[in-house]
Amino acid sequence: MKVMIVRDYDEMSRRAAEIVKEQILKKPDTVLGLATGSTPLGMYKYLIEMHKNGEIDFSNVITFNLDEYIGLSPDHPQSYHYYMYENLFNHINIKKENIHIPNGVAEDLEEECKRYEREIRRIGRIDLQILGIGVNGHIGFNEPDESIETKTHIVTLTEETINANKRFFKSIEEVPRRAITMGLSSIMKARKIMLLASGSNKAKAIKETLKGRLTTKVPSTVLALHPDVTIIIDKGAASLLTDEELANVELTD
Ligand code: PGA
Repeated sequence: MKVMIVRDYDEMSRRAAEIVKEQILKKPDTVLGLATGSTPLGMYKYLIEMHKNGEIDFSNVITFNLDEYIGLSPDHPQSYHYYMYENLFNHINIKKENIHIPNGVAEDLEEECKRYEREIRRIGRIDLQILGIGVNGHIGFNEPDESIETKTHIVTLTEETINANKRFFKSIEEVPRRAITMGLSSIMKARKIMLLASGSNKAKAIKETLKGRLTTKVPSTVLALHPDVTIIIDKGAASLLTDEELANVELTD
């Protein structure tokens, strides 16, 4: 794994946006795997700016989002549909038909998971998967468990995740308890993966991820098996790493 330790959130966001830009310049019909949450917001701002400056053309880009809350319709301000349009899609020239996000209000949720999985397969493979990481090491909404379904599936969110995400809702009761998430198999099939983390609340999850020890109790540890992962973290997220752990990874700048 390549690890880039940067000064702060803004630098993480700028470096991440540069990597996305390079990817799209190299392959204009890039398939991007996209994440939501606080972490990629700064990167999306930079991507919008780059698009407005004429540096990135999204007209042939295809996107697949990692996840969506069950029970929130696309016009719900806390849904990931809403987030993506508000924070990226409304400001760039992506085609609506190239956007894929699981439907959290589908009548048949099991069928929706199968449909999403088929859509990913139809397109082939994700070229660049962007990931945040949960405080518990989840990626997408693949939560820690004894075993983890590898395809797109319905997941019951852990208390840790519900607690971490309650800041976006009026009260903890409003946080959906379930979500649809892309599985680890589509994430791991991506040609390249870029994981972003900022702040000391992510330090423990990052430390576990870089240990090189696989466990379903920390889903992000599966990334150790992927041949092309870049992890961009700020000083806070890197704060628990020891010299020994850093010696196991390829430090890059
Ligand atoms: P955050 O969430 O970016 O809001 O911290 C990350 C995640 O839960 O994967």
